[in-house]
Amino acid sequence: MHLARFHAEPSVFVAPGRVNLIGEHTDYAEGFVMPVAINFATLAGISPRTDGKIVIYSENFGEEKTFDAASLPAKGSKDWSDYPVGVAVILAGEGNKIPGFSLSLWGDVPLGSGLSSSAALEVATMLAVTSLIGVTYPGPVLARLCQRVENEFVGANCGIMDQFISANGKKDHALLLDCRDLSFRLAPIPANVALVIANTMVKHSVAGGDYPTRRRESEAACAVIASHRQNVPFLRDATLEDLEKWGSEMAPKSLMRARHVISEDLRTVAASEALLKGDMAEVGRLMAEAHTSYSKDFEGSCVEADTMVELAQDIPGLIGARLTGGGFGGCTINLVEQSQAPAFAKTLAERYTAKTGIVPEIHICHASDGAHQLK
Ligand code: GLA
Repeated sequence: MHLARFHAEPSVFVAPGRVNLIGEHTDYAEGFVMPVAINFATLAGISPRTDGKIVIYSENFGEEKTFDAASLPAKGSKDWSDYPVGVAVILAGEGNKIPGFSLSLWGDVPLGSGLSSSAALEVATMLAVTSLIGVTYPGPVLARLCQRVENEFVGANCGIMDQFISANGKKDHALLLDCRDLSFRLAPIPANVALVIANTMVKHSVAGGDYPTRRRESEAACAVIASHRQNVPFLRDATLEDLEKWGSEMAPKSLMRARHVISEDLRTVAASEALLKGDMAEVGRLMAEAHTSYSKDFEGSCVEADTMVELAQDIPGLIGARLTGGGFGGCTINLVEQSQAPAFAKTLAERYTAKTGIVPEIHICHASDGAHQLK
């Protein structure tokens, strides 16, 4: 496709989407998350140009956009091209000279479903452009640059989780990330456990209203604690006892948001310990608790996602189920015994359609490697 359109053989890079097993809305509070890179990904093919233009073709949108490498826009324009152009802009801001190039993009991460299609797009483009200009960034640095594309160019106030796992994931493993210093630990996912991802078909968006509102509410709780106690710049540094002491000074919603974030950090670290020990029952129990906290205290779920989690409970093979990602729609993650996964997926889909009238997309996925060059 790239060759036919641009008459040049591309170098090709791939970056995966992700599913988060546990640790929701903790990343921007410098806490813990435990995502997995999945076998849905974005491919980016790149070749140099001599006319100083950046020409980007998206196979998914069937559209081509052209920019001048010497005068890139300062801000995004609410278009799919914001993600690849933002990569060039952030790299230029880091002092790199950005040459002209042709970039073709294709992906199968479902859009707007909370599986980080945008992070996959940023990371694939980042690898492609840095390789073209001959710069190499370590995985964690590359992830930070991609997060800055979202924060500074696209205008979405997300944390580091999605870009980090897309850049640094490992096949057959979950990654426990400390979002403060970006140190991480890999925990194997047992071979007899499947990741069953169930799309509620309710669209999710990070830039949209609710994500930033929740973030602000939880940060307001942190500010109350910080007014009493030193060294609490983020909820990562707060405890449940702090909420008992000073919760009455917080807006009730802020208190609830903070209770979710603080308890979620504890659950996420505990879940990684359990996964390392192969104690899947405990991982499942913590996922169930995490869903309740996300739904009730953080109010980050929606009727459809709660229904999808509820309907999974007594299907044979279930280890744990919860809404994954930024919330208000998107997908649930179900850890399921591998041998039962196809029957589980079928039953869940039937039940969900019967209950909601919506036909869900259900995928049996596996943990995949982070971004790399294909050819
Ligand atoms: C989205 C954001 C992440 C993270 C999650 C919630 O995926 O991009 O940074 O905040 O929501 O855990």
